[in-house]
Amino acid sequence: MAAVSLILSCFVSILLLTERVNSESLQEKQALLAFLKQVPHENRLKWNESDSACNWVGVECNSDRSSIYSLRLPGTGLVGQIPSGSIGKLSQLRVLSLRSNRLSGQIPPDFRNLTHLRSLYLQHNKFSGEFPASITQLTGLIRLDISSNNFTGPIPFAVNNLTLLTGLFLGNNRFSGNLPSITAGLTDFNVSDNNLNGSIPSSLSKFPAASFTGNVNLCGGPLRPCKSFFISPSPSPSSSDAPSRLSGKKSKLSTAAIIAISAASALAGLLLLLALVLFFCLRKRRGSRKGQTKPRETTGNVPATIPPAGASSSKDVTGTSSGMGERNKLVFTEEEFTVSIWKIC
Ligand SMILES: *[C@@H]1O[C@H](CO)[C@@H](O)[C@H](O)[C@H]1NC(C)=O
Ligand SMILES: *[C@@H]1O[C@H](CO)[C@@H](O)[C@H](O)[C@H]1NC(C)=O
Ligand SMILES: *[C@@H]1O[C@H](CO)[C@@H](O)[C@H](O)[C@H]1NC(C)=O
Ligand SMILES: *[C@@H]1O[C@H](CO)[C@@H](O)[C@H](O)[C@H]1NC(C)=O
Ligand SMILES: *[C@@H]1O[C@H](CO)[C@@H](O)[C@H](O)[C@H]1NC(C)=O
Ligand SMILES: *[C@@H]1O[C@H](CO)[C@@H](O)[C@H](O)[C@H]1NC(C)=O
Repeated sequence: MAAVSLILSCFVSILLLTERVNSESLQEKQALLAFLKQVPHENRLKWNESDSACNWVGVECNSDRSSIYSLRLPGTGLVGQIPSGSIGKLSQLRVLSLRSNRLSGQIPPDFRNLTHLRSLYLQHNKFSGEFPASITQLTGLIRLDISSNNFTGPIPFAVNNLTLLTGLFLGNNRFSGNLPSITAGLTDFNVSDNNLNGSIPSSLSKFPAASFTGNVNLCGGPLRPCKSFFISPSPSPSSSDAPSRLSGKKSKLSTAAIIAISAASALAGLLLLLALVLFFCLRKRRGSRKGQTKPRETTGNVPATIPPAGASSSKDVTGTSSGMGERNKLVFTEEEFTVSIWKIC
């Protein structure tokens, strides 16, 4: 009796287990049917509802047929949006190809649950909106192709979340702004025909010009060098024009310095003249009070007080053999100068 009950319980548990596996598969089948029901398509897909989903066209299951491994429906005439709660429920999916259809709208947020996805091909559709945030969570992705759609906005730095990526294809969309530095080990890369601007980061400059063409304001790397006002985040693509930018700044600075210096010297000259005028005014007043001591004082002060009025330098005054005539001349000059200053005073 005990043996019989053991066998019976074993049988029951095996039955329950297979039913659990079947129900999981059934959930995925339901998800696929929900997708097909909500997405209009040309009448080429004839999925037989009473058959196993693993036998459907475009569907591949894993070896024990417990879950869907890949879904490939390229060029199937699918039209409209991918509904939430459909493909996003195929949580074991490794490969998804919906390329060359007429799918539109945004990628549903539940795509973030496709954590095992390695390859995602959505090119040649009409998807729009910003770079799908759900995709930057699919850290197992090796190839991502969303080219030839209608995506807008920036290429997010978060693509660096996809560390295993070897192929990234974003061409022929309307992505704009700067190209972020992407450090993954990419071997294939294409962002041509977008609205990107700024300089190509050094991490991507190894790719040929054909990976970047059709972006009118993109520069550096394999493309033409950047103009100086495109401030580049990376040093290498703009290194050739960096010195010219620097020297441009330097020459601007020096012209500013020249202006400042000449203004300062003009002001200094003016102040010196004013000081001279004041000096002579005061001395004249003092001199008229003291009487006739002025000429001797003047000769003594010649070299110190009038460098501009004196025709020659101070050494001509102090150390010459024929000094008298020279000195007289200077004195005369100074007196003349003093007189004219006096008139002003
Ligand atoms: C659908 O699949 C079932 C079970 O495999 C089969 O009996 C039936 O003929 C199929 N129907 C069509 C239209 O192929
Ligand atoms: C992802 O799957 C979990 C369960 O596996 C579910 O609770 C969650 O709502 C899903 N996320 C999205 C965005 O649908
Ligand atoms: C990067 O991936 C992790 C999962 O590995 C996720 O939690 C995180 O939100 C992702 N970051 C972005 C910006 O998508
Ligand atoms: C792209 O989207 C814009 C609106 O954002 C729309 O006007 C345009 O027709 C779309 N282009 C294509 C090819 O779907
Ligand atoms: C680059 O494009 C962005 C967004 O289109 C814009 O805001 C920015 O001014 C552009 N920068 C340059 C240098 O053209
Ligand atoms: C990138 O894509 C464009 C078409 O959008 C193509 O002409 C070009 O050859 C591609 N570049 C590479 C390196 O494959």
